[in-house]
Amino acid sequence: MSAPNTPNATGSTTQAGIPAVSDRFSLSVGSDGPIVLHDHHLVETLAHFNRMNVPERRPHAKGAGAFGTFEVTHDVSQYTKADVFQPGKTTESLLRFSTVAGEIGSPDTWRDVRGFALKFYTEEGNLDIVGNNTPVFFVRDPMKFPHFIRSQKRLPDSGLRDANMQWDFWTQNPESAHQVTYLMGERGLPASWRRMNGYGSHTYAWVNAEGERFWVKYHFINDDGFDTMSGEEAERLAGADAEFHRRDLFDAIKNGEHPSWTLYVQIMPYEDAKTYRINPFDLTKTWPKADYPRIPVGKLTLNRNPENFFAQIEQAAFSPANMVPGTGNSPDKMLLGRNFAYADAQRYRIGTNFQQLPVNRPKNPVHTYNFEGNMWFDHTGDRPVYAPNTVEGSTWSDEQGPVDNGWEADGELVRSAYALREGDDDFGQAGILVREVFDDAQRDRLVETVAGALDGVQEPVLSNAFQYWKNVDAEIGARIEASVKG
Ligand code: HEM
Repeated sequence: MSAPNTPNATGSTTQAGIPAVSDRFSLSVGSDGPIVLHDHHLVETLAHFNRMNVPERRPHAKGAGAFGTFEVTHDVSQYTKADVFQPGKTTESLLRFSTVAGEIGSPDTWRDVRGFALKFYTEEGNLDIVGNNTPVFFVRDPMKFPHFIRSQKRLPDSGLRDANMQWDFWTQNPESAHQVTYLMGERGLPASWRRMNGYGSHTYAWVNAEGERFWVKYHFINDDGFDTMSGEEAERLAGADAEFHRRDLFDAIKNGEHPSWTLYVQIMPYEDAKTYRINPFDLTKTWPKADYPRIPVGKLTLNRNPENFFAQIEQAAFSPANMVPGTGNSPDKMLLGRNFAYADAQRYRIGTNFQQLPVNRPKNPVHTYNFEGNMWFDHTGDRPVYAPNTVEGSTWSDEQGPVDNGWEADGELVRSAYALREGDDDFGQAGILVREVFDDAQRDRLVETVAGALDGVQEPVLSNAFQYWKNVDAEIGARIEASVKG
């Protein structure tokens, strides 16, 4: 270790590898004179500093993550041919946790849904499952997503967050009730990222080697059990240690404590979806476990911290569109909207060739006809830049006809909500959560939390919020109203 004033023996370099000469003194005309523009090292240092950040993620800006391994422990090959889910298979993975609404420096413990974004570096390309710690979501049409996020962020004039705006959005979009009940319940305040569950939330497709199709939901259930913190503790930590969850994960892994999750899936036979009493593609609904029980698949263990937060976490790019053979989309409109949104955000946030960065790069070879653009650094040599071609050794894809992971869809183009089924309503599953899943203590805390969150909310939004909760459960709604009116 050198003394503070002693430069180390080798010295630093500029980014071009030339000796940098001094990291302490700018070149100036005499000791007291002006600095000069041709001090390239100073100019490079100041210019690079100005470009040190990339735009933060629009939602889910604050987060952290770690690398790990996913190991298949049960045979689900009758449902999917995806290599990553074949018995005994082990796949390197990356998991990033996040809050949704807060900005990059916001406290980890603010009440929020938590992101659970997974990348499996499979031999068939990257499979990303970009989910949350809740099995449902606030809205069911992608048109509403930017409105939802804006309502949870800040007012344009004051730059302040605003409970009135949040509740106005939720109460004007009653399909949010199920997710808002989760949010105002214990899942809004996980004790740590190591003690919460993760859900793919959407319905995805699986296809087996015989071409048989299934609908699937992913559930990552924490092996140490689910744990939460109190509102008081969360508030205290928001001031005392804004990085509480990030620190907890990093320190645990550093100390050899490796959090793990068991992956279960719910499988729905393809034909069931046509007649099931609940629209199985509605992201605001769960599939009752009595109808579609959880089937174990494998174990995800986090065991390696990032060596460089910026390179491996900030520049990590997850996308629900990253699906490998044997997996696929479903008619869930939200999922279809997300297929576009992520890579588009990442081309802007990180750069056109973000997939070449080591953290995003698949482990298997890439043969794409897309090339060049900002920061491209692969050597393409003299390979053909067009297809089809007659160049020896060149390869291109030429599948035709029905795709194996598709579904039948036809009809007039319309703008419309999903057609309602017998079990579809906005408040039913939220009511079941309150009455049948929460216990008395959890119901008491729900009333207290919602009453607190309604602080400062104005009419007519306040009355709408009372009605919203009465629609979830008449008694809970009445208790919330009484608590607010004091
Ligand atoms: C149409 C609906 C949605 C749109 C348009 C959307 C859009 C986005 C965008 C643009 C990002 C930032 C990506 C980046 O800069 O790298 C993001 C991040 C994220 N979204 Fe969504 N989102 C939607 C719905 C959802 C849903 C339903 C979930 C969970 C089930 C979800 C979970 C996440 C997570 C976990 C991240 C953070 C990923 C990471 O850790 O890098 N989003 N979303």
